[in-house]
Parts: sequence; C-alpha cells; structure tokens
Amino acid sequence: MIPKEIIEEIRYRCDIEDVIGSYVTLKRAGSNRNGLCPFHSEKTPSFTVFPGTKSFYCFGCGAGGDVITFIQKMENLDYVAALEFLATRAGITIPNDPTPGGTPTVSRRRIYEMNLEAAKFFRAALFDPVLGKEAMSYLAGHRRLTGATIKRFGLGFAPNDFGMLTSHLKKAGYTESELIAGFLSKKSQRGTLFDLFRNRIIFPVIDTAGNIVAFGGRVMDDSKPKYLNSSDTPGFKKSRVLFGLNYAKDHCAEELILCEGYMDTIAMHAAGFENAVATLGTAITADHARLISRYTKRVIINYDSDEAGQKAADKAMQLLDEVGLPVRVLKLEGAKDADEFIKKFGADAFRSLLRSSSTAFDFKMDKILAKYNTSAAEGKIRAARELTALIAATYSGVERELYLSAAANKLGISVESLANDVKRARAKQVREARQKESRDLQLTVRNFGDRVNPDAAKDPAAAAAEEIILGLCLLFPEHRKLCAAGEIALSSSDFFTEFGRRVYEAIMEAERSENGFSFSQLGEHFSPDEMGRLVRLQQDRQHLQNNSKEVLQDAAKSLHALGAARQARAAGDWQSTLIARRAMLKKKKDGNEKN
Ligand code: UTP
Ligand code: MN
Repeated sequence: MIPKEIIEEIRYRCDIEDVIGSYVTLKRAGSNRNGLCPFHSEKTPSFTVFPGTKSFYCFGCGAGGDVITFIQKMENLDYVAALEFLATRAGITIPNDPTPGGTPTVSRRRIYEMNLEAAKFFRAALFDPVLGKEAMSYLAGHRRLTGATIKRFGLGFAPNDFGMLTSHLKKAGYTESELIAGFLSKKSQRGTLFDLFRNRIIFPVIDTAGNIVAFGGRVMDDSKPKYLNSSDTPGFKKSRVLFGLNYAKDHCAEELILCEGYMDTIAMHAAGFENAVATLGTAITADHARLISRYTKRVIINYDSDEAGQKAADKAMQLLDEVGLPVRVLKLEGAKDADEFIKKFGADAFRSLLRSSSTAFDFKMDKILAKYNTSAAEGKIRAARELTALIAATYSGVERELYLSAAANKLGISVESLANDVKRARAKQVREARQKESRDLQLTVRNFGDRVNPDAAKDPAAAAAEEIILGLCLLFPEHRKLCAAGEIALSSSDFFTEFGRRVYEAIMEAERSENGFSFSQLGEHFSPDEMGRLVRLQQDRQHLQNNSKEVLQDAAKSLHALGAARQARAAGDWQSTLIARRAMLKKKKDGNEKN
C-alpha cells in the first residue's frame, strides 16, 4: 500500500485543473471550468471541472470523480497505478514496498526502466560488428538511413536467438512477470521464457514524456508478420501513442503530418519534416485524434496510395473533424508511401507536394466526381446528389458557402439550385443528428445507471431516498457528523441497494477515522464509474435550495418506512403463499374424500 501521507501529498500537489487542463482545453464558466469531454465524442462541452470540490463530472456521459479517477480513466490505470502516475508528474517518489503476499502488481515505472534497458541491449546488438552486421547493412544500405538518424530514433536489432534478451533482463533484476507484462518475453509450453522479438529491426516507441513505452520489430526479408508490435502493456495503450510524437511535438504547433508507417515517419524526419507521426499498426482512433488535437492546429494526412490507405484516410478525416481539426490530404503519385517518394524524388519535391495538398473537401469531391461521367445528365445528377450530402454535413456555414460554389462550378450548374438542395439536406441531417444524440444520451445514462447501481430499479423510491442521504453526507460535514454520532438514526443495513450501503459504510468509516473524511480517499474503494456517480449525487444536491437537517431526517425516515413496507410485503407474500397452499391442499383432500 502507498502510505497515507504520500497520497495526501500527491493530491495536494496535483491540482485537478492543471492535470485535466493538460488533456482537455478548459474554459472558465463561472467558478467552474468546462470543455469537451475526453471520454465520449461531443461538440458542445458538457464536461465540467469543479475546482471548489476538486472534482469533475460529464453531464453527457456520467463520467466523474477526482483527479485520481480522471487519470485512472484517461490513462486506463488502476487506482495505485494512477497514484504512481501522478506522483511522477508531481516529482514525488513513492517508496518501494513489495506487497507481501498479494499478487505482484507490475508497475509502469518498472516497465519503462526495463524497456530502456532492452533498448540499450537492442542498440548494442545493432552496432555490434558481428551480431548486427546484416541489420546495419539493411538500415544503412537498403533503407539509406544515416548513422545520425539511426541513433536519433534509437533503432536497434533483436538478435536471432531465443533467450539473449530474456537472460540479459533477468540478470538486470527484472522478474518473469515484468518481462511478460512488458511484452518482451513469453512463456513456452515447457514453462521457460523466450524472447518475443527475434531477428528483427527494432523501433522503440517513445511517449511525449520520454518513456520507451513499446517496440516495433521489422523483419529484414519478406517473411510474415512484417512488423511485430508490443501489445498493450501496463504502460502502453496503442490507441493512445503515436510514433515520432516525442520529437514532432516541438515542431507541430501549426501543422502535423499523420502517416502510416515507422519508416515513413523516420524518412520524413530525416528529410527535415520533423512534424510527422504515425499510428502503430492500428487505424487511427478517437483517442489518437484527441491526442493530436492537443498538439497541433491542423493535420495533413499522408497515407499510402493504395486502397486500404485511402479508406483509412476517410476514417482519419472523420475522427479529426470530430475534434475540430482542419484536415488536408496528401496525394502521392509515383510512389506508394512517403519514404519511397522522398527516396525517389527528394525532399524539395515532397515540400511542394505538401503545399499542394488538397483540403479534405476537395479530396472527397474529386473522389465523387471521378466516380461519375458528369458530362451526361445522369452522372451529373448522381454526383450532385452525393455532393449535396457532403456539403450539408459540413459544420461551418462559411465553408458550406465556399464548397457550394466550387461544386456548382465543377458540375456546371447554378449555385442557387445546389444551395436549395443543400439547405433541405442540412435541415434533415441536423434533425437526425439531434434525435440520435438524445437517443444515445438516454442509452448511456440508463446503462450507466444500471451498471453502477443495479438494485436501484428494484425499489426506485428507496434508491431516491438513499441518493439524498448520500449526496448530503458527501457534501456537508455537519450532516456526516449527525449520522456518525447516531443523531440521525441510520445504519448501513437500512440501505436497500448494495451500492448505497457500501457508500454509506465507507463515508461513516472515514468520518469516524482519525484523519476524517476526504472525498478522494473513496477512490480506494470505488471504481471510476462509481466515483462518477458520487460526484453526480453531490451535483444533484448542490443546486437545491434546501439541504437542511430536516431533508436528511425525512429521507432517513422514508428509507425506514420503505424498508418496513418491504418487509411487510415479503411477510405478506409469505402468508398469502401459505394460505394459498393450504387452500390448495384442502381442495385436494376434499376431492380425495369425495372419490
Ligand atoms: P506498411 O506495410 O506500409 O509498411 O505498413 P511500411 O511502414 O511502409 O514499412 P516498410 O517501408 O516496408 O519498411 C505500415 C505500418 O503498418 C504497421 C506498421 O506500423 C507499419 O509501419 N504494420 C504493417 C504492422 O503493424 N504489422 C504488419 O505486419 C505490417
Ligand atoms: Mn514503406
């Protein structure tokens, strides 16, 4: 366990507004801050940070909690790992204390240290004149990388051996579970560990904080799989990391180039385009898009010119649009990817290609126009129909205006007639989007409710009374005191829902403890979703006029009354069952006697 004083120190030093502000652009809203929720897609901000209570809540999806909950959700960590993460951020060292008896948890910090050790090992192998001979000639010869580039990207080589890295890391003090959790070794059927990366060129993946979070490994011939990537590990989620962003982050304030491959990224950096990044063998995700939006103002998509690449570009455009980033698309001609293009035509040709990149709209319009023969009426009508839908889906009115004239021009029809169609289509799209949004919202809220407090539906009145009590106890020390001192007659067994009972118990226990109650401490016992609910309970109460002792008393009374009624009903049911059974038996007996 992490000592209490350290937890307090972490909480004190990690200001919730600062921490969340480094992930979400927050705007002042009265005494609170709000922004676009990082946990679901939205265009109008419903995510709120309450500096007063050091908590956050999303009125759209129900996510909420304190700074630790936020990091748990954002970085996909458990409570302890989130504390470690924040400790590192605040420059606090958590004393090493192996959990005696408990399951050994693999810490993220250890994985990073181990990865660094592994990267050094891979690099030494690459630069070893014997071990790394073939790999070095592949990189320097075949791929034409300079020594400086190889070093800058920390490239390495995994020798063609089943145990070199594993035994090296074991000697350095890393445990089997750490090696496995870090995706460097795997257990064979016979129970021995072996190296996962073998006979491959190694690309370390470095996050923006400078940690080596994963590796990619490429074969040097045509064997399959071409690349092996670390799967998600305690320190690493593929969907949240971009290869090259550790360098690109200092060069991409205005514009970022998004590409598909390790080698494309490296080739672009080497040619002077240091704002290039790549996803890691996965399609771009909404998490990537949010990550990118924290670093840049616009994106140039530079995907392979094959069909898969173009399809992926469509997806990327959509996701980047959702986070409000303008997108341009690069059209590579005469080469399948950026690496090949630069090799063939040089950096200057690539620079002018960048300048001539088309807007996302032009890219899509050209694709539509290429599909139809627009010199004939039939083709013109079909193309107009698709362009209408495309323009109508554009958020900004100014942009729609511009696109209208471009499209009308290309099709050779009047702007007015196209504009009319767009207007109709737009009205319909907006209507449908609103309906969908409210449907989604209802679904999320309902599912969310079910997950956190599944018992609530069985007795909504009791659940409502519980919410009042818990909200008041979470918010007001004086109400907590009344309950803890027994001045309000209420015990956890009076609670109907299991969730309510657990929360009440935890609050009372904390209240009676030496250190007293602190909201953040609840994170130790409750999941991020549950923490979200606890924030909502407080929010619900906070806006009400009357939060007096009487309200608390009334709620406690009705919880008692409802409990008594439930018991009576259960007893009643039991009695009526008994009566029914007796009646049935009697009937049977009567019947028997008659026969
Ligand atoms: P490509 O096949 O386009 O490779 O895959 P590349 O990056 O151009 O590599 P070179 O130039 O042949 O060396 C693009 C990206 O897709 C992922 C990798 O991240 C790769 O960089 N990928 C590809 C995999 O993860 N696994 C694979 O088997 C293939
Ligand atoms: Mn390539």
